[in-house]
Amino acid sequence: MAQAVENAVRYFQRHRALYGDQLILGAPELGVKPAPADQVEGDQLGTLAAFNQDIRNCQKCPLGATRTEFVFGVGNPEADLVFIGEAPGAQEDLAGEPFVGRAGKLLDQILAAIDLSRREVYILNVLKCRPPGNRDPQPPEVEQCEPYLQEQLRIIQPKLIVTLGRVAAKTLLRVDESLQKMRKQVYHYQGVEVRATYHPAALLRNPGWKAPAWEDFQAIRDRYRELTGRPPLVKNGVQVSTGKGM
Ligand code: URA
Repeated sequence: MAQAVENAVRYFQRHRALYGDQLILGAPELGVKPAPADQVEGDQLGTLAAFNQDIRNCQKCPLGATRTEFVFGVGNPEADLVFIGEAPGAQEDLAGEPFVGRAGKLLDQILAAIDLSRREVYILNVLKCRPPGNRDPQPPEVEQCEPYLQEQLRIIQPKLIVTLGRVAAKTLLRVDESLQKMRKQVYHYQGVEVRATYHPAALLRNPGWKAPAWEDFQAIRDRYRELTGRPPLVKNGVQVSTGKGM
C-alpha cells in the first residue's frame, strides 16, 4: 500500500514536471494516447516502461509527424551508467531502438572492450525522433524533448552519464566548445557527473580518433568502477579485460 502511494506521488510529480499544474488526462493536446490502465497501475507507475507508454505518441514538435518509430531508449532501467547520443538515424527510426546501425555495432564493441554490454547500461538520445536527413537537432526540438530525457534520468538515477559526440554534449550541457576541450572536462547534469567523448559514427569516419576515444573509454570504465564499487572482471584469478582497444 505504501509503495502504491509512493508510486502515485511520483506519477503526479512527474506529470507536473512535464505538463505543469493542469491535470491532463491522456494529454490530448499533445496527441498522447492514455496508456492502457493495466500498464500504469501498481508497480508500473513511476517506471521507465510506464513513462514510455505516456510519451510514445508525442506530437509536441514537427518531428512527431515525420518519424516512423519513437525511440525511447534501451538497456537496464537501473543502470549506473547512461550513454546519450544525439538523435535516432534512419535505422533507429525504423527499429525504434537507439544505436542499431553501424555506429551502434561499434558502440557494442566499445562496451565489450570495457567489460560492459547494452544490457548493463542504458542508451538513449537527446531527441526521441529522427530529424529528417539526420540534420542537427534544432533548439525548439530540444526544448520540447529535454523534459523526457530529464524524467528518464530521474527514474534511472545513474551515477555517470557519457555523451556521445559534440552535438549531444553541446546540446545537453549548453557548452559551445570543441569536443577536444569537452572530453577533458568533468560536467554535471541534473546533479550527475557527465563525461563527453566521441560519437561512434565519427570514429567510423575518422579511424585516427579511435586512439584518443579508447583513452576516454578506459577512463570511463575506471570512473564507473570507482563510483559504483564494481570490481574489475576476474576469471580464474586473472583480471579479465579485452585490453585490445577498439
Ligand atoms: N546516432 C545517434 O546519435 N543516436 C542513434 O541512436 C543513432 C545514431
